[in-house]
Amino acid sequence: MGKVNVVVGMQYGDEGKGKLVDFLAAKADYVVRFQGGNNAGHTVVINGQSTILHFIPSGAFNDNICVMGNGVVLDLDVLQTEINMLEEKGVSLKDRLLISENAHLILSDDVEDSMNDKIGSTGKGIAPSYTNKYAKTGLRVRDIINVENDLDDFDVNARSKLLKFKKFLLDHSYLKFQIVNVSKVLNDAIDAGKYVLFEGAQATGLDIDHGHYPFVTSSNCTAGGACTGSGVGPTKINNVFGVSKVYITRVDRDGAGPLTTQMDKTMMEKIQKKGHEYGATTGRPRRCGWYDAVLNKHAVRVNGLSGVALTKLDVLDGLDEVKICTHYELNGENITDYPADAITQRRCKPVYETMPGWSKDTGECKTFEELPAEAKFFIKRIESLLGVPVIMVTNGADREKYIPINMDVLE
Ligand code: GDP
Ligand code: IMO
Ligand code: MG
Repeated sequence: MGKVNVVVGMQYGDEGKGKLVDFLAAKADYVVRFQGGNNAGHTVVINGQSTILHFIPSGAFNDNICVMGNGVVLDLDVLQTEINMLEEKGVSLKDRLLISENAHLILSDDVEDSMNDKIGSTGKGIAPSYTNKYAKTGLRVRDIINVENDLDDFDVNARSKLLKFKKFLLDHSYLKFQIVNVSKVLNDAIDAGKYVLFEGAQATGLDIDHGHYPFVTSSNCTAGGACTGSGVGPTKINNVFGVSKVYITRVDRDGAGPLTTQMDKTMMEKIQKKGHEYGATTGRPRRCGWYDAVLNKHAVRVNGLSGVALTKLDVLDGLDEVKICTHYELNGENITDYPADAITQRRCKPVYETMPGWSKDTGECKTFEELPAEAKFFIKRIESLLGVPVIMVTNGADREKYIPINMDVLE
């Protein structure tokens, strides 16, 4: 029996999932996207060279097989641009890109329809494509194959769109990306002893069911989505790893979604600058806040996390003090569970534990022992609040920048 692990975001996205997936992918045979589309922007930095991936799994740099599951929504033009960009960097996906026949397509009308939505979506056609999926009016990858054989099954409008995609596939057949039954491929691989790694996009706080609707994306970004979005059953999953920054960010329009621990303007600008907190997909500045243990504990629960990677420790270097929000207060009561709706969340006030910061740069540290005492205390406090082991802390964007902690959880 093989090994199956899942990586998910614990906050509102951009936690550094791409970096953790790239790290874990060194040992994986398959890396699988199971939900979302090119609203995702996952960064991998190798020897100072940064690549942002919107579709292709962050395993691309490890020579493993990259898979797009049925839960993904696919814009073939964008996918092609990304394949070309990788080829220019010397990363070929030839014969190692598999696409589910059941993945839904993002059409140009979808992109247009999502441009000006009120919550500040990424404008990539995500919600319209999923809307069509659930209205049962969507077009899937398999329809591109079927259109010429079963012309009568498609209306004129759908037919012309599908034929355009068909031409696209023929034009790019040299890439040999294969359209397959992803469930069968992955289950056969697991039976043959392979390691399958699932790469979540977006995050728990943006999950259509477990985030604050409507300030969410349109898919299940939480661990269960790996099963429905690929056709691999829950009994096959060994571990689920969460990724969380040591602070929090959120990107949307005009502060539409709740961010209870939002920092004051001066601190936020400092963190935006130091942490380069500008959207990998949209370029918009990300709002920043202090570590929110209430949201992160919610993520531990709804994903059934085995362990957590804490990212961007170096961004907090040099601060006089750092804060962790342990719970909220609402009408004189302590709130320890993430409220189910955005209206309640907005009324909650954060209650902080404030602790001394550290002046030493953590960027050059290689072991937990080398970290300043205050940073160690901060990490240990987060770990005790979450109740699951911290696997590693990252201290720089580059692939090599991480500090192992409970790495045995990964085995
Ligand atoms: P994802 O969407 O979860 O994959 O994350 P993004 O790639 O959108 O955003 C994470 C950003 O933080 C990227 O620019 C990464 O290169 C960067 N990053 C990841 N880990 C670290 C770290 O430990 N320190 C610093 N300074 N940057 C990091
Ligand atoms: P990664 O995978 C951060 C946000 C958008 C918007 C909301 C809905 O890089 O973590 P959508 O276009 O999905 O309908 O937008 O979700 N959003 C993200 N924020 N990181 C992402 O992906 C995001 N994908 C969507 O800003 O508020
Ligand atoms: Mg991102």
